[in-house]
Amino acid sequence: MNKRVGFFKQTVRGLPLGHGRHYRILIRADYNVPLEDGAVDDDLRIRASLPTLRYLLDKGCSLIIMSHLGRPKGRDMTYSLEPVAQRLQELLQKTVTFVDDITGDAAHQAAAHAGSGDVVLLQNLRFDEREEEDSESFAEEIAHATRADYFVQDGFGVVHRAHTSTHAITLQLPSVAGLLLEKEYMTITRAMEEPERPLVAVLGGAKVSDKIQVVERFVRLADTILIGGAMANTFLDYKDIHVGASKVEADQKETLDGIYRAAHEKVGDTVDDFIVLPSDVAVATKVDEGERRHNQQLDRIKTDEMALDIGDETIEKFSSIVVNAKTVVWNGPLGVDELREFSHGSARMALALAMHPEIESIVGGGDTADFVLKWDAKKGGSFSHVSTGGGASLDLMAGKKLPGVESLLDAHGKIR
Ligand code: 3PG
Repeated sequence: MNKRVGFFKQTVRGLPLGHGRHYRILIRADYNVPLEDGAVDDDLRIRASLPTLRYLLDKGCSLIIMSHLGRPKGRDMTYSLEPVAQRLQELLQKTVTFVDDITGDAAHQAAAHAGSGDVVLLQNLRFDEREEEDSESFAEEIAHATRADYFVQDGFGVVHRAHTSTHAITLQLPSVAGLLLEKEYMTITRAMEEPERPLVAVLGGAKVSDKIQVVERFVRLADTILIGGAMANTFLDYKDIHVGASKVEADQKETLDGIYRAAHEKVGDTVDDFIVLPSDVAVATKVDEGERRHNQQLDRIKTDEMALDIGDETIEKFSSIVVNAKTVVWNGPLGVDELREFSHGSARMALALAMHPEIESIVGGGDTADFVLKWDAKKGGSFSHVSTGGGASLDLMAGKKLPGVESLLDAHGKIR
């Protein structure tokens, strides 16, 4: 057990709810979801919020939910949360009252009239510029308008931000973690710090520079690290392998020096079995839907060719390593997954994990989660955990402190 377990006793489960009293609960969810033609295109984050909502509804609470959506500049109705209210209503199978307001009269009225079992969704927090300023005045207004007894932080995807709804609000109300935040935080933290071994990290994505701290942390924690995606090109280039027209981050040499130095200290001469790079790649001369996949050994990559996926030999090798793991943490696509021909690496990784439910498989959020959710007929159910956080899961894996979690630690013991 890690030292944070004590904190997680302070979740919604610890709130003294019910007992014939109606409590009004303010919930921060992360409903920053993709919209298409005015409707929710991917509802993972909304579905993931349901356990907390249902738990509180079962206790007879009324719920005032707040979230952001996108990065609007002021009040821009393309970023209205109204479509989210619609989807939430379908999923909860009960009326969700959408209020096009956050702290004004309409929000006051909606909260005042919310009775036991009622659900209200407020308008996009980022329509007020103070949301991103971690503003005391905005937090005060929210607490006052919603008349909440407690604040529940359940927006895992946004706890890496120090905003009004992740920090300042916790200074206004007794605050606890929701069930999604607890699950995400505990699952990812345990998989990294107390994994059943072997622990294999599968790292991909566009840039090494986006994931330096994650790679460094896995050098310390993992038994094997598999590197794919465009990021692998920078590693191959570092090893003096010519990767043709593939993009490499030439300015990452010192970072990679440090990573390999640490890896050497840990495993000595077996470093190439510890940090495993592709032994072949799938290439094309253009990043285009019409391009065919063509496997190329590393010493044969032509100057006009780009590595767009791990090659077939590497796919077999990576698959054989992960199926012998007990814990796998996967963060970052292994190829250009938007192009079917270059999504084989990620698809085979997903298949290897889905076929071995005995492996604890943690899929980091963002692009990797998007891919497995499209791939998986069970909407992510083929994996132990598909994270709803992009930047938040990356920061957590990197071992960074998350302001939205830290502010709950400060509030420890504040339950009335
Ligand atoms: C996300 O999608 O990663 C979160 O909702 C945070 O959004 P932001 O990057 O706009 O702060």
